[in-house]
Amino acid sequence: MQRWLTGWLVAAVGSTIAGTALAQPKDTIYDEAQVPAYTLPDPLVMRDGIKVADADAWKGKRRPEILRLFDEHVYGRSAKAQEKIAFEVTSVDANALGGKATRKEVAVFLTGKRDGPRMDLLLYLPNAASKPVPAFLGLNFYGNHCVHADSGITLSKQWMRPTREMGVVNNRATEASRGCCAQRWQVEMILDRGYALATVYYGDIEPDFPDGWKLGLRAALSPQGKDTAFQPDDWGAISVWAWGLSRAMDYLEQETAVDAKRVAVTGHSRLGKTALWAGAQDERFAIVISNNSGEGGASLVRRRFGEAIHHSVSMVPYWYCTQYRQYAWHEADLPVDAHMLIALIAPRPVYVASATKDLWADPRGEFLAAKHAEPVYQLLGRAGLGVDDMPPADHPVGDFIGYHVRTGEHDVTAYDWDQYLSFADRHFRHGRGK
Ligand code: GCU
Repeated sequence: MQRWLTGWLVAAVGSTIAGTALAQPKDTIYDEAQVPAYTLPDPLVMRDGIKVADADAWKGKRRPEILRLFDEHVYGRSAKAQEKIAFEVTSVDANALGGKATRKEVAVFLTGKRDGPRMDLLLYLPNAASKPVPAFLGLNFYGNHCVHADSGITLSKQWMRPTREMGVVNNRATEASRGCCAQRWQVEMILDRGYALATVYYGDIEPDFPDGWKLGLRAALSPQGKDTAFQPDDWGAISVWAWGLSRAMDYLEQETAVDAKRVAVTGHSRLGKTALWAGAQDERFAIVISNNSGEGGASLVRRRFGEAIHHSVSMVPYWYCTQYRQYAWHEADLPVDAHMLIALIAPRPVYVASATKDLWADPRGEFLAAKHAEPVYQLLGRAGLGVDDMPPADHPVGDFIGYHVRTGEHDVTAYDWDQYLSFADRHFRHGRGK
């Protein structure tokens, strides 16, 4: 963090961290002409050079190989699921949001121990439904109370990044924090279209600062606790947050009001990276949505456009495994790139969304990664994007790989949600994507 703030000459203010302007370094490439020449690893060629000829070879050999490569070189190996994970419903209101929804809060004890690490899941279920509903699941940036002004949501007591606009004072949420991210969640729209919404504060799983791991799951699960010395492929924060999404899915599988075969995992920015990595590993997620996830998510690192690896590993090294640092300025040595992360989701539907002004996340790099995942979808008998060129702003494209670039900033808007809901309608309601 230090080097990020002091070592670089700050040139522009662009991308935002959940509403907070973030300075960007001067060496950032924002001109297509400066993108270096690069060759992408072929997702359909094994490390030993053997071509992946059919779906069986993809599923049995190449997919596990690519998963391992992301474990070892990018995000770090995740812990296995704990056998004794425990849930407790802590509140239910069948008449929430003026009768539109049932609001449920569930404590998830991540190691099964009541005094161990815990995350709190908020669930809104549409009351108009007569049978189990499909759901969207996503981590939130500022506590469950940030997704809606609903005073019945328990105010998070966890550590939070100090953001005044979000009503956070002394690293804690206040009453003023309620609904501070409501625009990004569109709860009523989701419910009106017949979906449930499940969300968890990502800081419950691990607080987002360099030593946050000492307070979260990583220390709790490691035999050495806070004295852990990181191995090159030990998990970084993105893997830990993704692990939390899988535990939320464990709960949804036993929630009778939700159809667990139709759960879409979604996330914005760093939490979009997290949604992709969770969806890549955990095949229970039937749809995966990446909103403006950028570097370390959906955009090709070899382009070095916008955020590059050398920026990420200086600014937020703890999001990744320590091995990832080797690829700063040496992207060509990385055995994977973002198109392979997206390909890991195949044949399940995946949606990648960019924004025109979100150059830090490299919209074209996000589009190209989606495009280069297409051969894997095709091998598995699924149509991918269906276009060769990046579509104009606000023109969603794609079949099993959806894509749009929205006019505007790094954000999640009603427009984005409208596309995700239509994408989910198309795949869930019409029996596709299974
Ligand atoms: C920074 C970071 C991005 C990240 C974003 C966010 O801009 O460089 O990689 O996506 O924060 O999560 O808000």
